[in-house]
Amino acid sequence: MRAQPADLPIQFESVTVSAGAVNILDGLSLVIGAGAPTMVIGPNGAGKTTLLRVAMGLIAPSRGVVTWDGVAAVPPARRAIVFQRPAMLRRSAADNIRYALNAAGIPRGRHDARIGELLALVGLDAFGTRPARRLSGGEQQRLALARALARDPSVLFLDEPTASLDPAATKAVEDIVRAVAARGIKVVMATHDLGEARRLAGDVVVLHRGRVVENSPADEFFRSPRTAEARTFLAGDLLL
Ligand SMILES: Nc1ncnc2c1ncn2[C@@H]1O[C@H](COP(=O)(O)OP(=O)(O)OP(=O)(O)O)[C@@H](O)[C@H]1O
Ligand SMILES: [Mg+2]
Repeated sequence: MRAQPADLPIQFESVTVSAGAVNILDGLSLVIGAGAPTMVIGPNGAGKTTLLRVAMGLIAPSRGVVTWDGVAAVPPARRAIVFQRPAMLRRSAADNIRYALNAAGIPRGRHDARIGELLALVGLDAFGTRPARRLSGGEQQRLALARALARDPSVLFLDEPTASLDPAATKAVEDIVRAVAARGIKVVMATHDLGEARRLAGDVVVLHRGRVVENSPADEFFRSPRTAEARTFLAGDLLL
C-alpha cells in the first residue's frame, strides 16, 4: 500500500442533492483535506451517507460542484467506500477479496500474497477459507474493510462501520482505521458515536438537516463547540 495524500482536497461548493421537494444536502460547502480521519457526525437523516456518496462520486449533485485535488471534475480512481450494511458475496472470505482485486485490475499472480496481507491487516488470517456470510457481524465488517483496501485507495470512506458492533468488535475496527490512517490513507468516516469520533478524529464535521453546522479540528470541537447544534449533540441531547 502506498502512502500519499493524493486526490485531496475534496471540495464541496454549495452542493445541493434534491429528492423531489426535499434537499437531502442543502447548499453544503466543505473542504476535506489530508491528515488524520475526518469524522462526519450528526443525527439520523442528517445527510451523512449522502455526503459520503457524493464525495465518492456515486451521486451527482443537483446543484453545486465537487472537485478532487482542486480541479478534477471526476473522482479519482484510488478511492473506496464501505457501506453501512456491506453485502458479502456467497463465497469464501479470501475470494471476496479476490473479487475486489480482480475488479481493481490487480494481476492474478499477485492475488494470493495480497489476500494474505489484507487478511492479516484486519486480523482475519485464519478465516480465509470460511464462507464470508457465516462470519460474525464484526468479522464481516473487517472483511469489508479488507475488500475496500484491496483497491489500494488513497481515500477510504466508511459509513458507520461500527454501528451494530459490540465494544470488542468496535475496538477491532477502530484499530484497523488507525492502522490505515497511519499508512497515509485519508479516512472519511460517518458515525453516530461521539466517543468514537473523539477516539479517531483529526477533524469533525457536524451535519444537521443537510448542512454543515460545524467543521473544526477535533480538539477544538470537543473543548469548545461553536454552534448550538454541536453543543446539543455533544451534551447527548436529542438533536431533531
Ligand atoms: N434517494 C432518496 N430519495 C428520497 N429521500 C432520500 C433518498 N436518499 C436519502 N433520502 C433521505 O435523505 C435524508 C438523509 O439521508 P442519509 O441517508 O444521507 O442520512 P444519514 O445521516 O446517513 O442517516 P443515518 O444516520 O440514519 O444513516 C433522510 O431523510 C433520507 O430518508
Ligand atoms: Mg447513513
